[in-house]
Amino acid sequence: MTELTYPRTTQVAYDAVAGLYAELFRTALEGAPLDRAMLAVFAELVRAADVGPVADLGCGPGHVTAHLHSLGLTAFGVDLSSEMIALARGAYPDLRFDEGSMTALGLTDGALGGILAWYSVIHTPAEQLPAMFAEFHRMLAPGGHLLLGFFAGDELLPQAFDHKVTLAYRWSPDRLAELLNQAGFVVDARLVREPAGTERFQQGRLLARKPGES
Ligand SMILES: C[S@@+](CC[C@H](N)C(=O)[O-])C[C@H]1O[C@@H](n2cnc3c(N)ncnc32)[C@H](O)[C@@H]1O
Repeated sequence: MTELTYPRTTQVAYDAVAGLYAELFRTALEGAPLDRAMLAVFAELVRAADVGPVADLGCGPGHVTAHLHSLGLTAFGVDLSSEMIALARGAYPDLRFDEGSMTALGLTDGALGGILAWYSVIHTPAEQLPAMFAEFHRMLAPGGHLLLGFFAGDELLPQAFDHKVTLAYRWSPDRLAELLNQAGFVVDARLVREPAGTERFQQGRLLARKPGES
């Protein structure tokens, strides 16, 4: 039998736990003021730039897509997991959710004004991340913004850990910022917040921008 590899491993794993995941995380933002603050800054910047819609890549059950919508953004979600997409569509019938890979959206260059990747690049093997960030950069319009949410680590190399759903990696914010720079992004802000509640690790957020045309 052929062994599954990313992204199929991730898809299969999230299909299996989608209902439970939705139950656990649908209200997660309510108790996370720093996360809401980062999302609010992202939304304000995207609204001001006004260069296109926002894609919530790896949207899971869609609660963060819905939050972006509540902040006045035209937002849609994409996820590998058909179970996640079914839950998202059921919970937020007025919003658009597409099943698919965030690196194969079939979008033209510069089609997006914003990309949110909230804990969705955490499963990507390190060697595939530069190509993923290059694709994010291609899809964003000049002046568009990217917000990443991830588990923070303090080592130079990504650290694999036993994430409850499937293998994931912690990243040093500086190292991820370097990869974003290499893909053509300007990193405008980085936040590391301490673990809250049952969280095991510090949580990282990077806010980046595709420079506008001069
Ligand atoms: C930890 S969950 C995060 C879900 C949601 N963003 C949240 O914050 O609750 C990671 C999600 O990313 C999705 N994902 C991972 N890699 C992906 C890819 N290459 N394309 C699309 N979705 C992906 C998974 O299917 C999963 O639903």
